Amino acid sequence: MTQPSSPTDSGQLSIELTDIWKTFPGVVANAGVELAVRRRSIHALLGENGAGKSTLMNILAGVYRPDSGEVKIHGLPHQFRSPADALSAGVGMVHQEFRLIPSFSVAENIVLGSAPSIINNRQVENDVEDMARKYGLKVDPAQPLWQLSMGERQKVEILKVLWRDAQVLILDEPTTVLTPSEVDELGEILRRMANDGRSIIFISHKLHEVSGICDEATVLRQGETVAGSLDMATTDQNELARLMVGSSPVIAARPAAATPGKPLLELQNLSAMGDRGVDAFSDVNFRIHSGEIVGIAGVAGNGQRELADVIAGLRPSNNGTLIMDGTDITAVSAHRRFQSGLAYIPEDRLGVGLAPRLSITDNAILRVYRQQRRGPFIIAEKALSYCADLVKRFGVRSGDPDGPIAALSGGNLQRLLVGRELDGKPSVVIASQPTRGLDVQGVKAIQDLLLDQRNSGAAVMMISEDLDELLTLTDRLLVMEGGVIRGEFDPRTVSRHEVGMAMLSDAQASSHS
Ligand SMILES: Nc1ncnc2c1ncn2[C@@H]1O[C@H](COP(=O)(O)OP(=O)(O)OP(=O)(O)O)[C@@H](O)[C@H]1O
Ligand SMILES: [Mg+2]
Repeated sequence: MTQPSSPTDSGQLSIELTDIWKTFPGVVANAGVELAVRRRSIHALLGENGAGKSTLMNILAGVYRPDSGEVKIHGLPHQFRSPADALSAGVGMVHQEFRLIPSFSVAENIVLGSAPSIINNRQVENDVEDMARKYGLKVDPAQPLWQLSMGERQKVEILKVLWRDAQVLILDEPTTVLTPSEVDELGEILRRMANDGRSIIFISHKLHEVSGICDEATVLRQGETVAGSLDMATTDQNELARLMVGSSPVIAARPAAATPGKPLLELQNLSAMGDRGVDAFSDVNFRIHSGEIVGIAGVAGNGQRELADVIAGLRPSNNGTLIMDGTDITAVSAHRRFQSGLAYIPEDRLGVGLAPRLSITDNAILRVYRQQRRGPFIIAEKALSYCADLVKRFGVRSGDPDGPIAALSGGNLQRLLVGRELDGKPSVVIASQPTRGLDVQGVKAIQDLLLDQRNSGAAVMMISEDLDELLTLTDRLLVMEGGVIRGEFDPRTVSRHEVGMAMLSDAQASSHS
């Protein structure tokens, strides 16, 4: 274990975590972690999926109590019993999965739980607006939350913590739901907050972001600190990756092109409505052939999510035709689509993809169970061994297979879901943000799985906000903007800039005025 290396005097430290231990049934999540964070700095907390980052931050934020160890805030020891305790000591956390109420307005969500019971809406909205402006967080306080994009929701989460006057802000994978320009914007917002005297702890798997945004980094591996307070100015990304995984990671090379076969998925003039009652996308036409990965690039909220839902049969189309392997499936139920070989990896992993209250095993067999219709009884032993096999093949790090799925770390959840969906040898794969939130090895594992699917003849559609990923992995690239396909590109020859231009809408440009 390395001690913090930079010569800071402890008066400058806002956070000192010493020898923190936390055990869950079957897993030691934190095994003597050390973390020191300076005031006025942005500190990266790095580590593979399941390394113990969220657990440590939940301890700092009063969600969990450590089994042992010391928590000091601005030099004073604390024992938090609740998140409210932590907040009154100035520590606020924006969680990996957002915790907002869709039917409430932005302002209501921000002040919820901290305002007197009778609130003057107008006054609150004005106050929220003032605070948002101060940090450059653009939101409309009166807008109902359900209308907001993921990026906007995150701003609400940040404002919620600032509203409670947190001096230490913890952001658990804040950039996984953001576009590249939103990431830059977040970096500036965080810098403003740091300059204002706050400390920020920033968790991310994207090392280039960490290098751009953070001042220092601490790396966890299997619940232990392997490097503390590294100076980001002198530490390169390869070094960080090596510290995280304990060896040099394999850099993905462009996979050899497959020869496409017959069309397996065909969209003809397909249109659908979104949640806000306006067109989510309209007149979409394209085909995906056997042995082909087609990427859908675009800024979030331009119809990609709805498009995936419609193809999966989870949202109705209001015009056009959907053909799978020669058969019109426009009116076919989601269940039947799955049965005929369509796999769907949804963006919202806990909403649609997994049942949070069921055990890991129950979630693992959910799809097989649906598919094979073995009747109401599932033989427990078979289920367990199937689950164990999935967990092993897809590198899911879990403690107790009978434990709730919600106990898995974010990245491990995603691995289980993707593994389960791809296990049934599907002919069409719809993957929405399949590598979001995964560590270096997890990303590679999922990308390899998708390539395997392609090479064995599946038609793969991949939606991602990570343009670099699309450029290296796909055979053809479509850009979606304003619910319309704006262009088709050859990822082997097109420039990032060209695709980026197609992704930017007029609306996007004018909303920054
Ligand atoms: N509430 C819980 N109950 C049981 N086990 C848990 C619980 N929370 C976390 N764990 C386990 O503790 C370990 C560390 O998980 P944690 O969520 O802290 O990882 P992480 O570093 O945040 O990973 P990721 O990058 O995937 O989000 C994992 O093995 C996880 O399964
Ligand atoms: Mg986590």
